[in-house]
Formats: sequence, structure tokens, C-alpha cells
Amino acid sequence: MTVTRKGDVIVALDFPTAQDAYAFLDRFPEEKPFVKIGMELYYAEGPQIVREIKARGHKIFLDLKLHDIPNTVKSAMRILSALDVDMVNLHAAGTTEMMKAALEGLTRPDGTRPLLIAVTQLTSTSEEAMQKELLIHATMPETVLRYAQNAQLAGLDGVVCSPLEAAAVKQTCGQAFLTVTPGIRFADTAADDQARVTTPAIAREGGSDFIVVGRPITRAVDPVATYRRCVKEFLS
Ligand code: C5P
Repeated sequence: MTVTRKGDVIVALDFPTAQDAYAFLDRFPEEKPFVKIGMELYYAEGPQIVREIKARGHKIFLDLKLHDIPNTVKSAMRILSALDVDMVNLHAAGTTEMMKAALEGLTRPDGTRPLLIAVTQLTSTSEEAMQKELLIHATMPETVLRYAQNAQLAGLDGVVCSPLEAAAVKQTCGQAFLTVTPGIRFADTAADDQARVTTPAIAREGGSDFIVVGRPITRAVDPVATYRRCVKEFLS
């Protein structure tokens, strides 16, 4: 498996064009931050944006949240794996069978593969919507933990979850099971549209292995200094 250092700050490249993304990355004189490419940038620019950013020396979390029939997800994962990304994800709601198929597709002929992470319940989904619209009658914590267990059973490496859920996931699935957590804000900045936020230091204490940080860094007056502050708070 591709070895990814456990514990890092992942910068969400939520930009509409490659030009915007490169202009942002060009501001970093030394560091090559681990970056997240999501649907917006990927759908705008296609796989070439992944190749280019990889060639610039960055690790990449490709956040496309796959969810389809097992065979389709397996085939798509094979394509993403060939792009040499370091981390990809899917929806645990696609079932254990789909997650196992994804893992198969992701594994390269030489046995290496990117980390595979499952989305449990999106943090934008309220417990009320989950119960009334999706007819999932368990509580949100029960659902998140069950989805995490399903992902572990399927052989995945971890889950995307709220930093406030990371400790419970670790308790249920063990310390080695990775938690990747968005919803990070500094104590002295705005929460934007994130409802449940926490600081890098508290996320670390709660058991987050990777924090995903977007606007606090990308929209900062000095993104490089802000990234450094984030790394310092998270890793020390
Ligand atoms: O700007 P901000 O730090 O809120 O960005 C967080 C990033 O993490 C965004 O790219 C967002 O799509 C992603 N994300 C999230 N909550 C989830 C899953 C992904 O905020 N549950």
C-alpha cells in the first residue's frame, strides 16, 4: 500500500478552475501541502488536474465520494488508482459489498493502493432528515459507528467523520482505523457554514488522523502562514 504519513493537514482545494488552484499552490515557497481535490475542481478540469498537481509533488486526497453498483465502483476505482492518488473515498451507504468491490478495483497489480476512506453520514445531514427522509431509525451516533464498522469489515482504512465523532470511531474500530475530519476552525475565526466545528488541537486530542481544512486557509490573507499555524497546532 502507498505509505501515507499518519497525521497531516489536508488543504481542500475548493476552486472552480485549475488556474485558481495553481495560483494558490504557487504561493507556497517550500512546503508541498497534502491537498484534497473535490467534485468542483475535478469535474471542471478532469483527470489532468490530478496529474499536474501530483507532478508538482503534492499528495492528493481525491474526494469524489463514489456510490453506485459494486461493479461500476470497482471499475471507476481502477481508473482512479492509475492516477496515483494517495487517498480516495466512497459512501458507506453503498453497502459492504460495494466497498469490497471498490477495494478490489483500487488495488494495483503490484499490490499497492491508495488509502480508501468511507463517508459515514454527511455532516450536513441532520438526525431528523436521516430518520424522516431516509427512514434510518437509529440515532446519528449509532448510524455513524455502524457504517464505520461496515467499512472496517470490508477492509477499508478509515472514515470521514466529524472531529467530534472521531474518538467514538477509534473506540469502536481501534486506533489504527483512520479518521479524516473536516469542520476545522481556529478559535479566533468564523465558522462559515460549518455547524459543528473544532480547532486543530482539539481535533488531534479527539483522535483525528487527518484534518481537512478549506476556507480558513484558502481565504486567509496569508494562506502560507495560516497553513503553518494549522500544522503547528495539529501536530505539536
Ligand atoms: O472550507 P471548509 O474548511 O469548511 O472545507 C471543508 C471541506 O471538507 C470542503 O471541501 C467540504 O466539501 C469537505 N467536507 C465537509 N464535511 C463533510 C465532508 C466533506 O466539510 N462531512
